[in-house]
Amino acid sequence: MTGTPAPHTGQELDAEALRERALAALLTARERTALLTDCVDDHELTAQHSPLMSPLVWDLAHIGNQEELWLLRAVGGREAIRPEIDGLYDAFEHSRASRPSLPLLPPGEARAYAADVRGRALDILGGAPLDGGGRRLERAGFAFGMVAQHEQQHDETMLITHQLRSGPAVLSAPEPPEPVGPVTLPTEVLVPGGPFTMGTSTEPWALDNERPAHRREVAAFHIDTAPVTCGAYVRFIEDGGYTEERWWAPEGWAMVREHRLAAPLSWHRDAGQWLRRRFGVTEPVRADEPVLHVSWYEAEAYARWAGRRLPTEPEWEKAARHDPTSGRSMRYPWGDEDPTPERANLGQRHLRPAPAGAYAAGRSAAGAGQLIGDVWEWTSSDFLPYPGFVAFPYREYSEVFFGPGHKVLRGGSFAVDQVACRGTFRNWDLPVRRQIFSGFRTARDA
Ligand SMILES: [Fe+2]
Repeated sequence: MTGTPAPHTGQELDAEALRERALAALLTARERTALLTDCVDDHELTAQHSPLMSPLVWDLAHIGNQEELWLLRAVGGREAIRPEIDGLYDAFEHSRASRPSLPLLPPGEARAYAADVRGRALDILGGAPLDGGGRRLERAGFAFGMVAQHEQQHDETMLITHQLRSGPAVLSAPEPPEPVGPVTLPTEVLVPGGPFTMGTSTEPWALDNERPAHRREVAAFHIDTAPVTCGAYVRFIEDGGYTEERWWAPEGWAMVREHRLAAPLSWHRDAGQWLRRRFGVTEPVRADEPVLHVSWYEAEAYARWAGRRLPTEPEWEKAARHDPTSGRSMRYPWGDEDPTPERANLGQRHLRPAPAGAYAAGRSAAGAGQLIGDVWEWTSSDFLPYPGFVAFPYREYSEVFFGPGHKVLRGGSFAVDQVACRGTFRNWDLPVRRQIFSGFRTARDA
């Protein structure tokens, strides 16, 4: 149960391959959690860096507590280690703003608790029957995959906390790759009309909201080959983007007025130049980099200004997954093989999106690039269940968020690990949200 897991190429995996993948995913997540929490002192771990975020030490113990609930108690049938702390780390019981005032485990205890849970979880993983039979929670190692995804999603949340915290930089990473050779990408590609398969019924660790696979009719449309860049977004700003009501949905315009928005979050202007604060470093905004930290309202206003619109969620997924040659939908834009550093900017390997035009090896059959990784992409769609949706393993995973209040984001960002990123993966958030690693691309009817 050690070593690098066998590559997943879309073929069904046997129990040992699933066990190896689960182990690797859990270890990768814990390494990242340690990186994000060991780089600051105890005072910074327990401080609240933004009312939008939990103290980092809350995320740390919450990661352990969820792992205990699902792997130790639900799968392993074990007794609770510390039942008295369950309530403290229930995300539905306490708002983020209220979490610093809770009697949270101090950093040393939070680390020890998460490590204790992990040791027992790996014992359970070693003996779990991960074949096709048994309870659904254990089948194909789902619970282990779900817990690894959960930890990685909190790692992304902790990275947002790092972005919002003031003070000098504590994180560093190499720069992402530049586009190779001259960038001759067309600005948009045509996706022909017709049905395609949306969602999945076969991906072993796909979450309830990605299921089941179903056919969707999508009319022909054009979609950008890359996410909208900072340079393009600056043209919107300088053309009165934030001062002219006509580009905005009424709620978006109200948000602009109330908060006096004039640029993406963490941007400011100095001596005629746009600057951006990124993980404690102030730097010039790079024109060819995908724009980041924009709300759904800003994305939508930009699209209207550009004479275009946001893609719908089915359009985004068809542009990303549909292979017109075989007629089937692939796991990723480039095919069924797992992401690699040549294909997508994932896993916090870099601390920023790559310039538009990078990752030629990651382009979809339709010819669109950077759909996976770099920036989360807002779609025009509300977060809704697919036909035949069944909540699993609990309603609070997705079902309670369905409705017009949340908009769907697709594709993952540089801050998303591959275990929590698929062609079918759905993220959702409030349309006012801008601290997340969100960008967008635009589309138009054909
Ligand atoms: Fe959580």
